[in-house]
Amino acid sequence: MQIRRCAVLLMEPRETLGLDLSSMFSGGSALSASLRWVGLAPHLDREVDLTDEQVAALGRIGQTVWQPRAVLEEQHGAELVADLLQAGVLVADAPAGEPPLAAPLAHVRQRDDTLRAQHWRPLSAVAHMFSRWRGMQSESGMQFPTFDELVKVYGPPPPPVVARGAADTAIALPAPAADALDAVLLRRYTGRNFDTTAQVPLALAARLLQRTFGAQDQRMMAPDAYVLKKTSPSAGGLHPCAAYVLAQRIDGIAPGLYHYHPVDHQLEPVQALTAGQAHRLAQVAVADQQWFADAPFMVIVAARVVRNFWKYRNHAKAHRALLLDAGHLSQTFYLLATEAGMGGFVTAAINEVELEQALGLDPLADVVVAVCGCGPAGAGDYVELRSGA
Ligand SMILES: Cc1cc2nc3c(=O)[nH]c(=O)nc-3n(C[C@H](O)[C@H](O)[C@H](O)COP(=O)(O)O)c2cc1C
Repeated sequence: MQIRRCAVLLMEPRETLGLDLSSMFSGGSALSASLRWVGLAPHLDREVDLTDEQVAALGRIGQTVWQPRAVLEEQHGAELVADLLQAGVLVADAPAGEPPLAAPLAHVRQRDDTLRAQHWRPLSAVAHMFSRWRGMQSESGMQFPTFDELVKVYGPPPPPVVARGAADTAIALPAPAADALDAVLLRRYTGRNFDTTAQVPLALAARLLQRTFGAQDQRMMAPDAYVLKKTSPSAGGLHPCAAYVLAQRIDGIAPGLYHYHPVDHQLEPVQALTAGQAHRLAQVAVADQQWFADAPFMVIVAARVVRNFWKYRNHAKAHRALLLDAGHLSQTFYLLATEAGMGGFVTAAINEVELEQALGLDPLADVVVAVCGCGPAGAGDYVELRSGA
């Protein structure tokens, strides 16, 4: 067997604070702090506790060149090597002629290979994999304080605007001329009060999908290199963001999950759901934000990272560009919903893990970025911001 370190590993010295009552009663500080090493390896999708000795060894085992197990055991001890293999931060390879890897080692190897194949920037991979939510509910963890409550606890927020430079050098600009786009731009709002019985007409859902996520044109940039032209910009013109529809009440479309094909303009069934299951998944998707869960038409935006990272390999800005792409798409979606007289929304407060599972996506390859939605407003229409999101 030969071994190397996993492709990406961030070792974090993490501090845990506690109350030291005995020290407090003897006149010392009540605050105690303990430190431990936590390994963040994106291919594992879980944190790993590491000892000082293991951290030191990992700092001396490279992630590119395979080394015979016996050599590493000689240098670091057989037990340490076995423990790190089991933890998944060392990766094994069975050269030709040797017995194949046992299932757990083969699994780690496959996850590490998958990560390598995407061309992630290491810090971006760590940030993505360890900022996903699973099982988050507004009641059980995510707080939605009102502005009043926030001000009571934190004091007033920083002002909305900070002037830069001397006022007497500022150049006054003419008032914007009114034009046709204003009718949509100035009516856009975040809908939080969806009519729980209203259906979205199929033609409307189709227009929103095609004009937001659909290809308006296809161009060949080089032999076998095609890009899609969409109504939103995209880094490198690559449009890695895919749209998955969670249909609750769209005329003629059974409740369920679908992939939107941006060129063929078709919904590809991913999972059929009952109306109840679709509503439950919608609730889970938006981390129990009830005001969004009733939206009859939701779109999960997920970036197929290798489409972007093909060009922006191991690139410091690539992950940011994916998120910006999704933001542009969501604004276009909002505007189309507004044009149709509906409230729209976007949220990043989502349970990515449950969505990945429902859609059958591997988070190393497909980044669930945001959930958008829209629908006709119920009575009372406009509901103001409830969260600090
Ligand atoms: C990236 C992003 C994330 C958001 N997340 C949430 C959210 O989790 N919950 C929510 O109620 N609104 C969310 N919103 C909507 C904002 O709260 C809303 O845009 C803001 O209050 C301004 O209101 P308006 O969109 O009606 O102008 C989000 C908006 C953006 C752009």
